Amino acid sequence: MFAAHGWSVHVAELRVAVARIVRRHGLGSALAGLLVEMAIDEGADKLVVQVVEHQVAALQVFRKLGFQPEALLRRHVKDVSGTRRDLLVLANDLSHAWIAMEALTADIPPEARL
Ligand SMILES: CC(C)(COP(=O)(O)OP(=O)(O)OC[C@H]1O[C@@H](n2cnc3c(N)ncnc32)[C@H](O)[C@@H]1OP(=O)(O)O)[C@@H](O)C(=O)NCCC(=O)NCCS
Repeated sequence: MFAAHGWSVHVAELRVAVARIVRRHGLGSALAGLLVEMAIDEGADKLVVQVVEHQVAALQVFRKLGFQPEALLRRHVKDVSGTRRDLLVLANDLSHAWIAMEALTADIPPEARL
């Protein structure tokens, strides 16, 4: 999901959810990977995801895809029981990857690139 305009048009926020009955079979990882690919295809420079403190599966899924903790909003989320929980913002700044890839291909003539 991209902001339509404003300061963060280069940032895509990803969200993934899998029905409880089919969790832990790799579907969440596969969907998250697809979302990352789609966001890159759409031109995103930076990806973010919001994860509530106890969502260990989500942490695992996005860490494997290169996301790192970037911000912690304390007691930011109120769950259905009324308990306030910390919200973690994970980010994957792709601009570093693009710079590294450009450096790797800098001495290849444009006509020889795929
Ligand atoms: C996060 C979510 C999408 C993961 O879906 P899933 O289909 O179960 O994910 P996977 O089967 O690909 O598992 C991903 C990893 O998390 C681990 N994992 C899954 N559930 C876990 C749990 N309850 N405790 C610890 N680890 C868990 C798996 O072992 C796997 O790790 P591995 O690849 O190292 O083996 C799913 O749990 C979900 O919908 N949660 C609620 C919504 C949510 O938290 N969304 C994220 C915010 S956008």
